[in-house]
Amino acid sequence: MARILLFGGTGGIGQALMAALVAHYPNVHVVAPIRPTATLPPVTLSNTQTIRTIHWDSPDALGDCLAPEATAPFDMCLCAIGGLHQNGQGPEKKLAHITPEYFQWATHCNTVLPAMVIKHCAHLMAKQTPSVMGILSARVGSIGDNQLGGWYSYRAAKAALNMIIKSAAIEMKRYNKNLSIVGIHPGTVATALSAPFQSHVKPETLFTPQQSATYILNNIVHSVGPEQSGQVFAWDGQRVPE
Ligand SMILES: NC(=O)c1ccc[n+]([C@@H]2O[C@H](COP(=O)([O-])OP(=O)(O)OC[C@H]3O[C@@H](n4cnc5c(N)ncnc54)[C@H](OP(=O)(O)O)[C@@H]3O)[C@@H](O)[C@H]2O)c1
Repeated sequence: MARILLFGGTGGIGQALMAALVAHYPNVHVVAPIRPTATLPPVTLSNTQTIRTIHWDSPDALGDCLAPEATAPFDMCLCAIGGLHQNGQGPEKKLAHITPEYFQWATHCNTVLPAMVIKHCAHLMAKQTPSVMGILSARVGSIGDNQLGGWYSYRAAKAALNMIIKSAAIEMKRYNKNLSIVGIHPGTVATALSAPFQSHVKPETLFTPQQSATYILNNIVHSVGPEQSGQVFAWDGQRVPE
């Protein structure tokens, strides 16, 4: 029985990850924390598969919400939470467009929430067998790879997330030598998050959520080991520069 935590299961990539996990693991128990206002889309399961939805209402309450599930270790934890635009505000083209409100919102959903996921779930991961935490980040969070500028808040929030991932990997090596914590760039994927920008993307480089989920599982989550913990990988398994 694979025991898996999936955050962001209501989103475009998260829904596709859920479907890919259910297709891959004939015996699986998925725990899916979501906001109280959200509903997990229905998934067809066999009688050896279960999904448990947990309503997660405040960032630091996650530990209490997960307590009933902490009786056995998890093999995998995927976090597909994130945000790029809200209330008509999107990524900034110029310095002059930065506002505290959008910056704080972008940091909350792209850095603080995934950090809370790592904080509360890292100690729930299997120690006797390999376990992996895959946290959805973005290539634009790479400082070394930044050729275009702009997108200040989202870039900064994902760069900060990458630092959280790196530090958590260093800390967790002391407690769990079988755990890998990695960041994931899913490619450019046709979801609500990328909708306002898809017209700028060549069709062959715009993935469906299903394509991206398959790449994430095959090229990253099922391939990395503890020696790669703390690094960020793109959908094709290539390392994203820091
Ligand atoms: N799509 C792309 O091209 C692309 C490219 C690079 C990186 N990424 C990253 O991939 C991840 C998934 O993106 P996506 O395209 O699947 O986006 P999406 O369809 O907009 O899904 C976003 C997910 O994040 C959750 N979320 C957002 N704010 C939240 C909050 N305050 N509290 C709890 N949950 C919250 C949403 O939950 P609700 O349903 O409750 O709103 C939803 O499950 C993100 O980290 C994104 O930055 C995406």
